Amino acid sequence: MSQSWLIASGKGGVGKSMLTAALGFALARRQMMTCCVDADQGLRDLDMLMNLHNQVVYNLVDVANRECKLKTALLDHSGSEKLSLLPASQSAGHGDVEPETYVKILSKLKKRYAYILVDAPAGVGRGLKNLLPACDDCLIVVTPDDVAIRNAERLIAVMEEEGKGRPLLIVNRVREDLVKKGLMYSPQVVANQLDVPLLGYIPDDAQIIASLNTHENFMEKNCPAAKAVERICQRFLGEYVPMPEVGAKKGLFRRKGGLSV
Ligand SMILES: Nc1ncnc2c1ncn2[C@@H]1O[C@H](COP(=O)(O)OP(=O)(O)O)[C@@H](O)[C@H]1O
Ligand SMILES: [Mg+2]
Repeated sequence: MSQSWLIASGKGGVGKSMLTAALGFALARRQMMTCCVDADQGLRDLDMLMNLHNQVVYNLVDVANRECKLKTALLDHSGSEKLSLLPASQSAGHGDVEPETYVKILSKLKKRYAYILVDAPAGVGRGLKNLLPACDDCLIVVTPDDVAIRNAERLIAVMEEEGKGRPLLIVNRVREDLVKKGLMYSPQVVANQLDVPLLGYIPDDAQIIASLNTHENFMEKNCPAAKAVERICQRFLGEYVPMPEVGAKKGLFRRKGGLSV
């Protein structure tokens, strides 16, 4: 049965689009028919992250306005035949696509794809609320800092108010050296604070930015972030992959004298 996942965050710039593209690629590499949907209307960027920006002609808002058929707007990924993208509009606003329209488009996508990953706009506004009814489950992306955590708390509360189940958590841009020094929250501490299950964490990795700038796919590099997304993908598919505690020294569960949460 196909599943639609919303990839959301309270704060912008935490890595939602990066995760949507990378997890989409990892799922497709495992032969899962996967469609990434850019729902950040007005701030289209998933096409760039998936290296499909030269091919965009139509977008999700064109489909909503019946200016083209859904299959005309979909772009197939050149590097993976199981992966497609439905691009966002460059000009529409966040509230311009009604919840019923998202429901209709996603239910059509479910007929062809096993996994639909929806890259949400940041925050808890209309753009997010209009997407919630169309998505089965949610992944929350957070960086290990107080601002992102506070915004994620608000997002989780909004999801609850809107009747969604408990989301799963991804902690991004983790610096093990800082965690060890007690200068950054460990992923487990963030998950405890937000009281949501941790699906995995991704290290801060310069290869992500380098690959973006050279229009390459960091998932095809043997870098720490690619390995981390691969582990997340395995857990996402229900495989057991142990998650070692970041920063824990042998015999200790957590470094003492660090941040006080
Ligand atoms: N783990 C990471 N390590 C290094 N850079 C990252 C990492 N995750 C994301 N970035 C960078 O952070 C910026 C914001 O990421 P993006 O996915 O666009 O965030 P969002 O979609 O949440 O606004 C991008 O420049 C991206 O390349
Ligand atoms: Mg984004």
